Amino acid sequence: SSLTQDELKALVGQAALRYVVPGEIVGVGTGSTVNKFIDALAAMKGQIKGAVSSSVASTERLQALGIPVFDANAVQSLSVYIDGADEIDGQGFMVKGGGAALTREKIVAALAQRFVCIVDESKRVQTLGRFPLPVEVIPMAAQQITRRFAAMGGQATLRLKDGQPLVTDNGQHILDVRGLSIAEPLAFESEVNQWPGVVTVGVFAHQKAAVCLMGTAQGVQTIE
Ligand code: A5P
Repeated sequence: SSLTQDELKALVGQAALRYVVPGEIVGVGTGSTVNKFIDALAAMKGQIKGAVSSSVASTERLQALGIPVFDANAVQSLSVYIDGADEIDGQGFMVKGGGAALTREKIVAALAQRFVCIVDESKRVQTLGRFPLPVEVIPMAAQQITRRFAAMGGQATLRLKDGQPLVTDNGQHILDVRGLSIAEPLAFESEVNQWPGVVTVGVFAHQKAAVCLMGTAQGVQTIE
């Protein structure tokens, strides 16, 4: 039997429930895979205190299912943060931000002791950089940041929505950078973080996945 990508996402969304700690607040990411997790989490809502969310979209979905959403400032620490990724390598380093939620995702991930990444096997890569790297930027710095990426061999383009620059939940813009091969994710993340006007780079290396639940034709593979 071959499962569709949607079915693989539902499988890992369901499997992530076993990392949710009863009585606690869980960190919740953003995207189509996380949406499956949120739907599955509804069955546990009586057992958890609630969620901290990484986007307006996830907050709305959680609340519609009756799951209380807490402000990130009201929480000192989370046992677990559950989120998808656009790419993940063998060490748990990720590229994220395809859904434009990378800044809040990194903020909530930073509260958590463990990042549990839920993906279908199409997200697995040898080296990060195949997926265009999302970078949230302050609009007035977009051109200088574009030139800095060009100097590294990357082509940055402003992400559009309906013909206009996409505006993030934080009121900023997104550059998508093609042509990079990110051989050293930790060093790369540190460097780009230093550039003035960069809000968040979509490489999650300092906050890599501790666990990856990967949906494959053979079922859910757990990589720790
Ligand atoms: C959101 O900004 C992203 O980081 C998502 O986590 C990523 O795009 C995965 O989304 P899908 O589960 O829809 O592929």
